[in-house]
Amino acid sequence: MKKWFATALSGFAALTTVAMASEYSAFYKYEVLNAKKVSSKLTADPSSSVWKTVPGKYVYLYPQVSVRLNDKKANSLIPKKSLQRALVKVAYNNEVLAVYVQWKDNTPSTQAKYNTDSYADGVSIEVPNKFGRGITLPYIGMGDENHPVTVYLQKTVAGRDYQKVFVSEGFGSLTEIKEEGSDISMKYNKQKHLWTAVFVRPLKTENSNLKAGLVPIAFAIWDGKYMERDGNKSLSRWKFIRLPSYSLDKEYLKYVAWGIPYKSIGNPARGKQLMKQNGCNGCHRYDDQQTAPPGMAPNLSDIGGIANAPYLRESIINPSDVVIRNLNPNRHYNKFAKPDKFNAYPNNDMYTWYTVGPDGKKMSKMPPYSHLSEKDINDIVAYLKSLRNWKNFK
Ligand code: HEC
Repeated sequence: MKKWFATALSGFAALTTVAMASEYSAFYKYEVLNAKKVSSKLTADPSSSVWKTVPGKYVYLYPQVSVRLNDKKANSLIPKKSLQRALVKVAYNNEVLAVYVQWKDNTPSTQAKYNTDSYADGVSIEVPNKFGRGITLPYIGMGDENHPVTVYLQKTVAGRDYQKVFVSEGFGSLTEIKEEGSDISMKYNKQKHLWTAVFVRPLKTENSNLKAGLVPIAFAIWDGKYMERDGNKSLSRWKFIRLPSYSLDKEYLKYVAWGIPYKSIGNPARGKQLMKQNGCNGCHRYDDQQTAPPGMAPNLSDIGGIANAPYLRESIINPSDVVIRNLNPNRHYNKFAKPDKFNAYPNNDMYTWYTVGPDGKKMSKMPPYSHLSEKDINDIVAYLKSLRNWKNFK
């Protein structure tokens, strides 16, 4: 009897240890990029031998459909696009971080110098200027007013090395900066049909300090074949670089790892019902809910691919924490209003996603749903995380 009890007890102890170790195992498996510390110099050369020693992981990029570009032809190509996959490797030494991104592209495109009908292939990475305990995640499409990000961009433009670093607070609000010590290069392998880019930047810059145990990073790829440019691109959600030399903040880990895998937090089918009951489909298009006027609010068709669960939770409870800037809201006119002296109708405010408060701060037009129970919110987030299909996009 005693012996049986002791065995059961040790079995139980072993089980709880496994449960604790596995609490974040799905997060580490799917969302974390393990960086390798090296003692050598790191450059932007994709053929550097250092990359042979660094393990890689695949990151998936979804067509950006939340914000519509004002280009019918390019938009009509989006449903034809497939899921983009990039192999990512991260290395660092005491001074710099280097990020290697490799993806398949059978039709390398270069933007001609003077021809506006040809489009470039391109790649970018972004990091939040501030992150860590108590700081919510930025909008994935290049940040927002409350969460500026630094973006590193390389495109293939004939006759010049089109390489840019900028600080961004969302679409259409970029400030180009000169960053000492940053470099990018992008090379095509014709035999393997692969683009490889390497980004190098100092761990600490004037705008951000990446000396931390977990660093958010996101990826974007432009495919010239699909006429992609600006906001029209494929986008990853926030991934997290693990830099083992720096201490891991348990609180931050708990925050970013919440909701993985999404089926563990709630019931997606019930979440779908709740979204209908709460009128989300009056403003947003997603899944088979396609009655909202296009452009009235972000299209949520593949939001589960590009947004992280904690971000979605905050979007529902406190929409004004992250306010998304939409592109070209002014292309919608109010034809019921009086035209001006040039016979032009005023803009239709229905398509602007925010109002500007007396303090100059943007406020979302989406009402906060903080009155919903935790269970309801979790079910909605579980449903939103399941949305990964852009084939309905018009
Ligand atoms: C009155 C229109 C309206 C309603 C109703 C509404 N939203 Fe929104 N929603 C918006 C607008 C506008 C934005 C973009 C501005 C912002 O960032 O908040 C937005 C943003 C979002 C985002 C962020 C999207 C992204 O691309 O990052 C999510 C997620 C979201 N809403 C979910 C919901 C859910 C879930 C409901 C119902 C519980 C809902 N919305 C109801 C208008 C609405």
